[in-house]
Order: sequence, then structure tokens, then C-alpha cells
Amino acid sequence: ASGAYQEPFRPQFHFSPTRGWMNDPNGLVYQDGVYHLFYQYYPDATVWGPMHWGHAVSEDLVHWQHRPIALFPDENGLIFSGSAVVDKNNTSGFGKEGKIPLVAIYTYHSIQGEKTGRNDFQTQGIAFSLDNGETWTKYEGNPVIGNPGVRDFRDPKVFWHEDTQSWIMALVVGDHVRFYRSINLKEWQHLSDFGKGQGAQGGVWECPDLFPLQVEGTDETKWVLIISIGSGGPNGGSGTQYFVGDFDGTTFTPNHEEYKWLDWGTDNYAGVTYNNVPNNDRIFIGWMSNWQYAVLTPTSTWRSAMTLPRKLSLKKFGDDHMVVNYPVEAVFELLAKGQTQDMVLKAAETKEFMHDGLNRSEISFTTETRDFSLALTNDKGEHLNVIFDAASDLVIVDRTRSGLTGFQQEFGNKLHYMDVKQLPKGLYEVTLLVDAGSVELFVNRGQFVMTQQIFPTRPYTKLLIGNTSNSQMELKGFSISNVAS
Ligand code: FRU
Repeated sequence: ASGAYQEPFRPQFHFSPTRGWMNDPNGLVYQDGVYHLFYQYYPDATVWGPMHWGHAVSEDLVHWQHRPIALFPDENGLIFSGSAVVDKNNTSGFGKEGKIPLVAIYTYHSIQGEKTGRNDFQTQGIAFSLDNGETWTKYEGNPVIGNPGVRDFRDPKVFWHEDTQSWIMALVVGDHVRFYRSINLKEWQHLSDFGKGQGAQGGVWECPDLFPLQVEGTDETKWVLIISIGSGGPNGGSGTQYFVGDFDGTTFTPNHEEYKWLDWGTDNYAGVTYNNVPNNDRIFIGWMSNWQYAVLTPTSTWRSAMTLPRKLSLKKFGDDHMVVNYPVEAVFELLAKGQTQDMVLKAAETKEFMHDGLNRSEISFTTETRDFSLALTNDKGEHLNVIFDAASDLVIVDRTRSGLTGFQQEFGNKLHYMDVKQLPKGLYEVTLLVDAGSVELFVNRGQFVMTQQIFPTRPYTKLLIGNTSNSQMELKGFSISNVAS
């Protein structure tokens, strides 16, 4: 972000476009010290429209530099979501004079097809760049995957699969995923399908991602399949589910019948991970909105922001593998670390903290208590509440009076719940990252996460912590830290 961004609700440490409409992150790839962030972009209005790929670059995932639009609609259609790879061995032949091509693989959406009511308006195309993503050339043989006659056929995620020395693509087809294989990114062979009758099916499947993760503390590797769904999320509208299992180069086999939510909040959608990151770090970025109200949120010259970049890891809790997501270290380096203190709250006691700049802060502590509440309030009485309830094993986020909510009915008409049954007994960390238009809650360093948009009309200036248990509550290392602007 830069100092110029002073409009109401303008995120100060989350990525947002200078102006216009943004949705999904696209083409997340690391090359030569640079993290690329492409995104679904409509520059001419603050509502969804003919899609382009916007572009930004960063060396640390928190300071971003805006770049010119990377991909424009063409005769094959609008440019929908997709991914990008570094084609080190020039398998595509797009490389020239020793330059390694960056190749984007995306969905074409043809308005023509939509108008005639045909069902085959989504196909897959590719483009390459030889100058670090600044300029792109579309492949003349596009589309590289034609449509088999289905309505929803999109969001290719491609990665290099070492064991089979080939490119693998995950692509969603309405209610399931298809896997494809290629050796040159141009010719694709359909390998297998996963998902019919499985997982959450409350909306069409979108934005798949498949990647390996080492199970923490072991040398075992599992494969994680992420799938976004347009509606039917854990608290209404869009949401992101995942499966943990095995991938043998052809077929994905889940280890559990059950699917899980990557984030229980309403505002983390279409998230995917970076290709090609050093040390095999798995870094995730999601679109911080929800199709239920995305086009109606009360911002001015732009709409939407991305979630904080989060590192994914796989941990075992009992017999279960869970994907844990927690902001990358660089986020915490933005903080002017506040004083830390240990405190004790008596049964039913509430403590108040006045603090300027709560709308750009990190609040964090460690505790064993599971019955307490946090409230952020301003001088207009607007408040955001977070309630930990041991009896029901739930964490509840209440944004019903958090600020502006009336722009759409679903936004502020209910409480949001997160099931924390699997939170291990003992000390755990609670971290809240608050920006001008959002709050991200991480419980036990990302075992449980809730991401929410909020639109307080004045900055929150007071934090209340209430012990709702009938014994004393110990808070260790409590701090409020400001994010430098
Ligand atoms: C997800 C999505 C994708 C599609 C894109 C269009 O939010 O619907 O499935 O490619 O947005 O902008």
C-alpha cells in the first residue's frame, strides 16, 4: 500500500487494486526473487465485468507494486481464473535466447457462447511472457483444451509433477474436478476425475488447487486438494473446502470421507497457492469477499482486497490431518510490536484497553480459557464481537453491529460460527489482525481461521476482553501492535 490510500475502508496492509473491480487471485508464481500476483480484474467499473488479469509484484508478499494489466480479453473470450508456471526446461518451446518463459494457463469465457445459450463457452488457453510478466503473448493455437459440452469448465491450476516429469492440471467441471497431464503445456490428456457426490456441493466447484505437504514432525507427505464453492459455505455464500489424501500422478484418493473448511469466515474465497516458491513453502492468498454481496460492499473507487498471504502446513490432530494457515512472517515484520504483558482476569471480569489505530493492528495472546469474549468498539457504539464458548465448542463472530451492514441483507443479519472441537486442550494462541475493512482471526496459529469484512464508520478505539468463565482467566504475552502505515 502507499500513503495515497486514505479512502474509507481502504486496506492498509492487504493488497487491493488502485481502482476498479477485483476478484480471484490468479497466476500465483515466484520467479527470480519476485512474487507475482495476477488477479481477476475489471478496470472500468467497481462491479464484475469483462475479465482481465491485473498484475502486481512483490519481493516479500506484503509490499506490492502495481504493474500494467497482463491479459486482455480477445476473440476467444474473457480471461477467467487460472495459474502460471515457470517453464524452466522450456517444454513449451516459448523460451527464446535462453530466456525462461513464464506460462499462464487460464479459462476463456466466450460471451458469444453465453448469448446463444450454448453450453460450451468455457475453454482453456495459454500465454507466455519472457520479461517477468510485463508483456504477454497469447499462444496462436488457443484454446488448448476445448469444451466437452458442459456449462462450468474452468480455473486450471497447473504445476510441475516431479515423479512423472510432467505438468498436471486440476480443472473444475461443475460438481467435480478433472485432472489432466501434459509434457508441453499445449497438449493435454484427461487422466481422472474426483468429487462427484463428494464434499460440499452447495454451489459449483471453482478454483481447485492440488499440492503436496509434508506432515509436520514426520517425513510423510500428503496431497491436499482445495476446492472453492460459490454458495453453501460454512456461514453462507462462498467458502473453501479441502480434502487430504494421496496423488499418484493420475488419481487423487482422499484419506477421509469428510471434507474440511480452510476458513470458517465469510470472506476468504477462490484462494490458491504459489508455484515455484523456494524451500517448497506453500503460500496461499484468497479473495477477501463473498459472491453473496461482493458487488455491493461500500467502498468507493475500488472493490475488494486479498487475504493476508498465509503459509499452509499440514498437522496431525488426533487421527486427523488438518491444513493450518497462518500469515507469513513478513506480515509480522510490519508491526511496531506493542508491549507484552501477562494478566489475570477474575471470573466474570472485563478489562478495557483504549488504543488508537485498532483498525490497523494485531491483537494477540495465549490462554487456556475457552470462555471469553473480545469486543472492538468505536465512539459510535459500533462493535465487532468474538465469543469463545466452551460448552458448545464454538467460536462466534458477531458483525451484526460492526458498522455499515445495510448494503445487502445477508451481510449483517446473522452470527458466524466456527466449530473448534478439535482444538487440543491446554495453551493456545489467539491472533486477530485488523485492517480498515477486515478482521482475520487465527486460533492456535491457524488451526482455525475466520476471515471477515467489516465496515466501521469510525475507527475502533477500544478493546474489551471479558472473562465469561467461572474461574480465573490467564492471558500470557498479551499485546496490541500497530501496523505501520
Ligand atoms: C470464482 C470465479 C471463477 C471464475 C472467475 C470469474 O470467483 O467464479 O470460477 O473463473 O470467478 O471472474
